[in-house]
Amino acid sequence: MKKTIAVLEGDGIGPEIVAESIKVLRAVEKKFGHDFRLDYAPFGAEAYFTDGSPFPEKTIRICDEADAIIKGPVGLPVDKMRRIPQEMRPEIAAILPLRERYDTFANYRPVRLPKALASFSPLKESLIGEGLDILMIRELVGGIYFGAKTEGSATGMKYAADDCRYTHEQVRRVAVVAFEEARKRRSPMTDIHKANVLATSRFWVEVVDDVARSYPDVEYRSMLVDNAAFQLVRDPTQFNGVVLLENMQGDILTDQAGGVLGSLGLMPSACIGPEKGYVEPAHGSAPDIAGQNKANPYSMIGSVAFLYEMCFGLHAESEVIWNALFTVFEEGYRTVELAPPDYDPAMVLTTSQFGDRVVGKI
Ligand code: NAD
Ligand code: IPM
Ligand code: MN
Repeated sequence: MKKTIAVLEGDGIGPEIVAESIKVLRAVEKKFGHDFRLDYAPFGAEAYFTDGSPFPEKTIRICDEADAIIKGPVGLPVDKMRRIPQEMRPEIAAILPLRERYDTFANYRPVRLPKALASFSPLKESLIGEGLDILMIRELVGGIYFGAKTEGSATGMKYAADDCRYTHEQVRRVAVVAFEEARKRRSPMTDIHKANVLATSRFWVEVVDDVARSYPDVEYRSMLVDNAAFQLVRDPTQFNGVVLLENMQGDILTDQAGGVLGSLGLMPSACIGPEKGYVEPAHGSAPDIAGQNKANPYSMIGSVAFLYEMCFGLHAESEVIWNALFTVFEEGYRTVELAPPDYDPAMVLTTSQFGDRVVGKI
């Protein structure tokens, strides 16, 4: 298969983990005889300083022309971020415009932990049971993130407001994705919301209930988000299957899921739209460990596995990557943040050593 891929390395640990994911991408490309052109482009906070914008025109053009996009996390340490005007900060002026531009409404965030790796989790091993295999699907281009943001002053009191809004179609299409995934996996689907308070959540549930009628074969339940946050640490295996979330609640619960796994470095993701998708880890640029060759590249390499599968429909290629990732861990290797203090130092890998091990398995 011949494809063009835009590569946006991002900030902080971005370039380090993207480099490992590209090693893996290339190894799989060679093994299966594909032909990919990679176009690197600036994106993120550094891009503001070098190119005057976190999502420069030339990057937009490269992304428009690409078949898919690989994106590292963005964001710099707080003191450096302060030097960027609010409206040019990468979260608002790069990530959201990227999602909006390609209408990547379905954000797949898998939460996977085989039984053999249960010790990664800060939870008791017994709570991981036969393993975690949750696919969180987060709506990514609607809700409070994209509503009007206003600040002003009324009767002498300053205020700020964020408008939260969902249209019928925005909810329907992501609910269909969630039910389709649940049907494929023959698994339950849990819809999470705050319908006891929010009008948008009540509407959300109405639409999801309606979509559910077309999927009588899928076991479907509904749960309030505060209880879901509690249940996720008390008994995570009850969510094995598909979990559907709106944008902001999905942002928060997917990071919490990373906590259940033991590291955000175990959270890859794919952002899928009607014609083009991009992949990125669920976490940020980890300024606290940037430039030290100790970030866990699993999240970025898993994102490339997603790119093969979801952007190009290449399932065997994707499987090879997932198997290689889990095999490296199952052989006892750990990245720094997953190794207990008394762990055999010979088994603790740097970012690049981890990438090399994964390539070795391919
Ligand atoms: P973060 O996700 O960068 O880091 C949270 C914690 O997780 C840190 O302790 C970090 O060291 C650790 N961590 C994250 N990824 C890791 C990995 N691969 N391996 C090992 N440890 C890892 O969250 P933050 O510090 O709140 O945010 C930093 C910046 O990233 C902010 O500017 C934020 O806005 C931005 N951000 C960007 C994205 C994105 O690009 N999609 C996502 C989230 C946050
Ligand atoms: C994520 C991030 C982004 C979000 C930020 C950086 C805009 O936290 O991808 O989870 O909130 O969606
Ligand atoms: Mn987030």
